[in-house]
Amino acid sequence: MKSPAHSAAPRVVVVGSLNLDLIAQVEQLPAAGETVPASDLLRRFGGKGANQAVAAARQGAAVTMIGCVGDDADGTAYREHLVREGINTRAIGSIPRTPTGTALIAVDRQGQNNIVVIAGANARLTAVSVRNQSAIIRHAGALLAQLEVPLAAVVEAMRIANGAGVPVVLNPSPLRSDFPWGRMTLHTVITNELEAQRIFGLPVGNLARATVAWRRKLAERRIAQLLVTRGAQATLCLTAEKCFAVPTLRIRPVDTVGAGDAFAGTFTARLAEGFAFPEAVMLANCAGALTTLKPGAQAAMPSRWVTQRERIRLT
Ligand code: RIB
Repeated sequence: MKSPAHSAAPRVVVVGSLNLDLIAQVEQLPAAGETVPASDLLRRFGGKGANQAVAAARQGAAVTMIGCVGDDADGTAYREHLVREGINTRAIGSIPRTPTGTALIAVDRQGQNNIVVIAGANARLTAVSVRNQSAIIRHAGALLAQLEVPLAAVVEAMRIANGAGVPVVLNPSPLRSDFPWGRMTLHTVITNELEAQRIFGLPVGNLARATVAWRRKLAERRIAQLLVTRGAQATLCLTAEKCFAVPTLRIRPVDTVGAGDAFAGTFTARLAEGFAFPEAVMLANCAGALTTLKPGAQAAMPSRWVTQRERIRLT
């Protein structure tokens, strides 16, 4: 068992989902109505919330996870797994007569995927259960959320963090049309290109040239800074003062599931630790790229040491 993160470690609270990922490895992703054979079926721990929690913990953060699992064998196994990762699991509820969330994932030979999520216990996370964890959120160095659990729970966590001046990082995935943009202050929003275009209604290709228009969209939504991840291409960063691109590692991906989660967890851990923004993005890019080198979201998420070693290759 790993020792729990040191008490002086930056504190990160993650509000989000925990899934059991069933991963089918296929030659080509099936088209609508098509049946394709799989060469293998893997069972792995996943869910955007827990993936990001594991990524942050491996960077050395003291992570508390707020979420729900079923009161089934998968839920018990997931808790034990997170404890081995040094994550505080006391704020993870066990929901009676409800299965742990499950994701059905197909991954092709190029490492591309499609994912179907059955929410299960994730759908039972409430604003009240989040409010019960107010003290932990108020004392965090950063709050990290996604949109794979009920919005009321996410919004409540953000409200508590905003009230205590705790920076909020949001990875708004999967995208939801009913997210109340502008109601909360967001320190950083992390999206991919498609999500950025849908949220802000502007083409990402324009970001460096149309910074005034993009900054106006961010201000309307009370977002201080935006990060747009683009797979093998440099990550685009927009703050109130600057717009710049941060390169990523050149690798041959095996499975891209969880790369965005590794990025979000690593960035947030380093933000909570006090790293400068461009450096935190650089390290997050490394962690995201390295995560694609093995099947499964969490299997290849790098330790702090490996992330820093690979980061040297970017200078
Ligand atoms: O971001 C990857 C994750 O999305 C997978 O682990 C799966 O569980 C889904 O939540």
